[in-house]
Amino acid sequence: MSCTIIVGGFFGDEGKGKIVAHLAYKDKPVIISRGGVGPNAGHTVQVGNQEFGVRMVPSGFVYKDAKLCIGSGVLVDPWVLEQEVERLHVKGRIFVDFRCGIITADHIARDKGSAHLAKKIGSTGSGCGPANSDRVMRLSPQAKDVPELAEYLLDVPKVIDAALKKEEVVLLEGTQGFGISLYYGTYPFVTSKDTSASQIAADNGVGPTRIDDVIVVFKAYPTRVGQGPFSTEMSFEKSDAMGIQEFGTVTHRKRRIGGWDGGMARYSAMINGCTVAAITGIDRVDKACFGVTEYGKLTKKAKNFIKTAEDDIGCPVSLISTGPELTQIIDIRGEYT
Ligand code: IMP
Ligand code: MG
Repeated sequence: MSCTIIVGGFFGDEGKGKIVAHLAYKDKPVIISRGGVGPNAGHTVQVGNQEFGVRMVPSGFVYKDAKLCIGSGVLVDPWVLEQEVERLHVKGRIFVDFRCGIITADHIARDKGSAHLAKKIGSTGSGCGPANSDRVMRLSPQAKDVPELAEYLLDVPKVIDAALKKEEVVLLEGTQGFGISLYYGTYPFVTSKDTSASQIAADNGVGPTRIDDVIVVFKAYPTRVGQGPFSTEMSFEKSDAMGIQEFGTVTHRKRRIGGWDGGMARYSAMINGCTVAAITGIDRVDKACFGVTEYGKLTKKAKNFIKTAEDDIGCPVSLISTGPELTQIIDIRGEYT
């Protein structure tokens, strides 16, 4: 097991950041490389009582021995990157593929100023849609054209290839979620690129035959930000009463909350080629499971939920997050027969 992709199975914000951080400490990857759209993604990682939010730097940055990369498919906002590099002290170990598309002030203005994107679709206003559009039109600059990025430039596929040849562990971190994939999501209420595992491999220049595992992360109570269909959505009155309230990392918008969607979980697992499923927020299914780190200590209610999810997904649920902090997790990968 050397090259693993991590993606979101619902509409984003499933807790991929926390899962990646856990895998990093446990599996000790030499490289953690990001795929996905760009700085429209927000990942949160909590270590002890410190909370970090990232939009450009891979969430695995908390594991200090890994080289951190941004794959060529990802859009880079040089200003957002620079802020994070300074705040997280990752200079010297973060690299950007020289072909990454660049987000300019003009892209951000066009995103925020477009009634179609900002209002109808409910975009994050981070410039990603217009930047990907310019990239397709072959108009946008690349990372190699930006002097401030010179010190970070790398041929990311080459370093990943070298690591895989040495049988070292590589994590490919996806962003967003299946339901907002440009190809498979609820079009037109989607982001500006596919978000499935195949795309994350392509974003990093890793061929499909070299991927060993695809971990799809599902949230016990899925959420959605922005517009678009959400079949299991509940009223805020109901979710508030259940004590579930979430706000976006990038836009601070209140997230819409829904119930488990077995059909969507199955379809998403199929297209992602899921080999291992992760479920986050099991402490919302039963509060008694908060912080539990052993499968045997989960309540019957939680175990039943996981069993149903496994039947829906068609794969073992081997990672179960029981709270926001890094160590609040059950990892039973390899314990299944
Ligand atoms: P855009 O990607 O900024 O163009 O936004 C398009 C849609 O995707 C909007 O509904 C956003 O809320 C949603 N979206 C984009 N990135 C994320 C993410 O990382 N998590 C959740 N929703 C996202
Ligand atoms: Mg997020």
